[in-house]
Amino acid sequence: MANVTFTSPKLSRDVTVYAVAGARNTLLDLAKEHKVPIPYDCQDGECGSCLCEVTILSKTPRAISLTEKEKEVLKQLGKISHDEVANAEVNDMPPHYRLACQYIFRDEDIIVKFDGDEATP
Ligand code: FES
Repeated sequence: MANVTFTSPKLSRDVTVYAVAGARNTLLDLAKEHKVPIPYDCQDGECGSCLCEVTILSKTPRAISLTEKEKEVLKQLGKISHDEVANAEVNDMPPHYRLACQYIFRDEDIIVKFDGDEATP
């Protein structure tokens, strides 16, 4: 079980939901399920509109596998540093910014910050 807290200027207050780790749902799926208006478009890791800042609250974040697609979009958006790319590639350590449609949440509490316009379904 993970606590996922969404925070944004688009929300009148933070929204915390419980997520079942191990489900193959993405962070964007979770947000949509709880009517959290993270912007999105392609839902396939290509447009970058679902960009979120993810803070992992545990001291030892779980390893991630950053896809090439997500890495490229984060680079294009200037949201991943050279060091973060290396850390993701070598140590599987998560970068600070992620694409909600590519992020599979784990059994760890996170804070998800997003801006932007409301999603257009
Ligand atoms: Fe396009 Fe996530 S919705 S990258």
